[in-house]
Amino acid sequence: MKIKNICCIGAGYVGGPTMTMIAAKCPHIKVNVVDINNDRIALWNDSNVDNIPIYEPGLSELVGQTRGKNLFFSTDVNAAIHQADMIFISVNTPTKTYGVGKGMAADLKYIELCARQIAAVATSDKIIVEKSTLPVRTAEALRSILDNTGNGVNFDILSNPEFLAEGTAVTDLLNPDRVLIGGEDSDRGRAAQQALVDVYANWVPKKQILTTNVWSSELSKLTANAFLAQRVSSINALSELCEVTEADVNEVARAIGSDSRIGSKFLKASVGFGGSCFQKDILNLVYIAQTYGLNEVADYWEQVIIMNDHQKRRFAKKIVKTLFNTVSGKKIALMGWAFKKDTNDTRESASIYVADYLLNEQAEVVVYDPKVTSEQIYSDLDYLGTRSHEENRRLLKVVKNPLEAVHKAHAAAILTEWDEFKHFDWEIIYNNMLKPAFLFDGRILLNHNELEDIGFNVYTIGRGE
Ligand code: UDX
Ligand code: ADP
Repeated sequence: MKIKNICCIGAGYVGGPTMTMIAAKCPHIKVNVVDINNDRIALWNDSNVDNIPIYEPGLSELVGQTRGKNLFFSTDVNAAIHQADMIFISVNTPTKTYGVGKGMAADLKYIELCARQIAAVATSDKIIVEKSTLPVRTAEALRSILDNTGNGVNFDILSNPEFLAEGTAVTDLLNPDRVLIGGEDSDRGRAAQQALVDVYANWVPKKQILTTNVWSSELSKLTANAFLAQRVSSINALSELCEVTEADVNEVARAIGSDSRIGSKFLKASVGFGGSCFQKDILNLVYIAQTYGLNEVADYWEQVIIMNDHQKRRFAKKIVKTLFNTVSGKKIALMGWAFKKDTNDTRESASIYVADYLLNEQAEVVVYDPKVTSEQIYSDLDYLGTRSHEENRRLLKVVKNPLEAVHKAHAAAILTEWDEFKHFDWEIIYNNMLKPAFLFDGRILLNHNELEDIGFNVYTIGRGE
């Protein structure tokens, strides 16, 4: 089975970059990326490729090379489904905000809508690829919808979770540690699996393309994210202990990370992990374990989230405590709003929670982020529902210039590890701030000795004062 036409439903952080890479590496395949969001598609099609809706190093160049040749962005979902041999489902699967499983389970309504649309439109056999992160056994639900509502055509379902990390999406897609493809145990299932293996084999070495059954593939995605998040929560738990014992969390991380069994990655203590996946996937894992009555398993993984919430709150509390137990009416500059550097994504970013805490303490919060728009920042705060739309805009200011953020500020807090923060002239910043000038480094990013020499009072995660 040779794939000639791919459709991807969902032009977001997963669908957009992944399909761009497939188009770039497989010039013989036509790739149609479709989305119901007109504005998003218009940006993907903007004549200036720098305006594509997702900021990822190297992505706009790749879009520029492929768009209009074999990569197309459109809102015509039906036409793209109709033409395709293979359909990737890359729609969002947020945590449910209502009903059974509220706050825990993944909301599969967008997936289900896609399946129903595919079933209604398809007039030829299709391979359906689950790309979005999904609870284990979602493929079963997909199959049931497709088989019971379709036009009598055959659907083969594959699970092909995406492991790219934001900010490094292009390099991750170019050189993945592995590509995982789960398929059904039948002749048709194996042929479908092979068809997708052949797509990736255009640039990924065959030994890095793993094939498993569908359920293992679905569960592996949740497990990978749970393990990564667990490492961050583990080192963050130790960071609090370091702060009271004169140990230095960076030194501890280096010491344990050089044990090859532990490894050095994902041991950077921080103000807490964010992003669209870690929290959502763990909650999802916890929910699944609970639904099978596996309460100890559920409690074990839930602790990773509890620790992460604690870390964000503890950082915000530390700011208040250090500023003489009150931040009411004090200007606090938050440097960074994205959940990590090199992305404009803010989903579950620690900054949102730190800002919310400080606003509750009546601080005057000013935010500077090099890539995130003010609309996004206000929409993140509004989403929390802590205060009204108007109040959020009155109490929090977003500025485009870092010096404006720190002007007459009582404190500055680093919340995202943007490289540019390392290259700021901290002496000028110090001169612009009120004294004593406090600096809270939530990313262990800056040179604290130099800052102290300038005159700052520095607090950093994972090292006592
Ligand atoms: C993650 C997974 O890495 C990726 O494989 C999956 O496909 C999607 O979820 P992503 O959310 O883009 O990717 O970012 P990641 O680099 O994993 O970082 C997640 C969060 O953890 C960020 O807020 C980051 O700042 C934080 N983090 C990461 C730490 O605080 N310390 C670390 O050592 C590593
Ligand atoms: P992810 O990080 O998983 O890529 P995003 O929220 O960035 O998530 O992107 C998911 C995209 O899927 C959004 O642009 C959304 O408009 C789109 N989407 C959701 N449901 C549908 C649907 N039924 N048909 C087409 N696109 C959809």
